Amino acid sequence: FGSGALAGLSVVVSAGPTFEDIDPVRFIGNRSSGKMGFAVAQAATEAGARVTLVAGPVSLATPPGVARRIDVRSAAQMQAAVLDASAQAQIYIGAAAVGDYRPAEVAERKLKKQAGADLVLQLAENPDILGSLAARPAHPFLVGFAAETHDVARYAQDKLQRKGLDMIAANRVGDGLGFETADNALDVYWADGMLALARAGKAELARQLVACVAERYRAVRG
Ligand code: PMT
Repeated sequence: FGSGALAGLSVVVSAGPTFEDIDPVRFIGNRSSGKMGFAVAQAATEAGARVTLVAGPVSLATPPGVARRIDVRSAAQMQAAVLDASAQAQIYIGAAAVGDYRPAEVAERKLKKQAGADLVLQLAENPDILGSLAARPAHPFLVGFAAETHDVARYAQDKLQRKGLDMIAANRVGDGLGFETADNALDVYWADGMLALARAGKAELARQLVACVAERYRAVRG
């Protein structure tokens, strides 16, 4: 543990997409690159936290100083890794874009094309990682992300309450912000306040977000 706003605290950060396999060669994924979550992991490390980074399939180097990195592929694997690491953590920051659904069955062999016929895939609902953490009696301080294309404030505040979170960082997707991009902008909400973080590179934005999380954590949990 170093010095800084998060000194002495263990923080778990999730980052990147999840891939849900259809068969041995195909999957359902999303456009998260992991940049935002890796920047948050780096900023939390710089703020003195002991950071565990749970990463979906991304091609990014582990930020210097991150204590532990766990690579996962599916939402179920991410949930298991996050629940395990969070048992010892004071703060969880969920920057991962977790797939809401997975193929109900994973084919053991490559699906063959049936010419002239449509293919129907049945999807099963994935576990909600933040929800399963919030349901634990002694859970860490919970920070979610929300990626929305419209009605950002309303959906973010709804997620804050519905998922039982302490804070939520909402990004407006589109206009060169959000998924895959170098820049982002975040509106951060908690029960009785909000902070708008203007467009900036993800490293700088992550530092501002981590400072805000540290302040709220100290205010609520001491
Ligand atoms: O990775 P980048 O390319 O840098 O892009 C960054 C980002 C846009 C992916 C990131 O900033 C972001 O917004 N991540 C969350 C994206 C998202 O999919 O949000 P959501 O509205 O589906 O989920 C809301 C929150 O619930 C998130 O904290 C998510 O981690 C969590 N969740 C969602 C589904 C699920 N099954 N379990 C969860 O815990």
